[in-house]
Amino acid sequence: MPSLYVHYLPQFCAEHDLADVAVVVIDQLRASSTVCHALAAGAKDVVPFVEVDAVLAAAGDYDRSQVLLGGERGGELIPGFDLGNSPSDYTPDVVFGKRILFTTTNGTRAINHARLASRVIMGSAVNLSALVDELLDEPVVHVLCAGTGGHVSRDDLLIAGALADAFAARGEWTLNEGAQATRGEWNELVTSAKAYGRSLDAQLALELRETPGGKNLLEIGHDEDLVVCAMIDSKPVVPELDRGAGCLRL
Ligand code: MLT
Repeated sequence: MPSLYVHYLPQFCAEHDLADVAVVVIDQLRASSTVCHALAAGAKDVVPFVEVDAVLAAAGDYDRSQVLLGGERGGELIPGFDLGNSPSDYTPDVVFGKRILFTTTNGTRAINHARLASRVIMGSAVNLSALVDELLDEPVVHVLCAGTGGHVSRDDLLIAGALADAFAARGEWTLNEGAQATRGEWNELVTSAKAYGRSLDAQLALELRETPGGKNLLEIGHDEDLVVCAMIDSKPVVPELDRGAGCLRL
């Protein structure tokens, strides 16, 4: 029977435990969602970096018309960068055909943590069903939640739970404790949506406002990003790390 493991934070799971298995990195607010938007909008690829300085150094190797520098620190645009981390900034007119050199506080760190995996795929509400279709035949899937500032963030857990629920609905999967618990959280969200007559997108957007990652974004005026990131299946793409090339692409 295939197995699904959910890890609440990178530090709860050793890098070697992710070696040679498929890993879904979830940074719901917002790195995973933004990567999906960028690639769905026709960006050539997204190169993840842990550090800002590494992006600035790498940018020097390119003709600047070919690349865009994107990401955030403290949720805000990084000085000298072209784009922040709002998914809706990554539109075809801005990113089509471009390589995005990308760094975020937690998301690109989580990608780095999974670098020994056989597959590293970015997961978010916006590509949920596409992810499930892509991974259903894997014998083992690990879900790595990025967290916020080193702490567990419920925005990631909800999407991990939605994945666990979707896998369980499509076949017999063994779910670890984290997968069972997050599935429970997701099912509570679904129950609330029904009770209040809201769509799942609307309920998710509402609940994201109460999460640590969501509160940070509200404080700096990125309310709209919560709505965009909660649009389930709005970007049905599967960004996967090409380990040889060091970039995320479709
Ligand atoms: C991160 O990687 O920490 C996030 O994507 C944070 C953000 O979007 O502000």
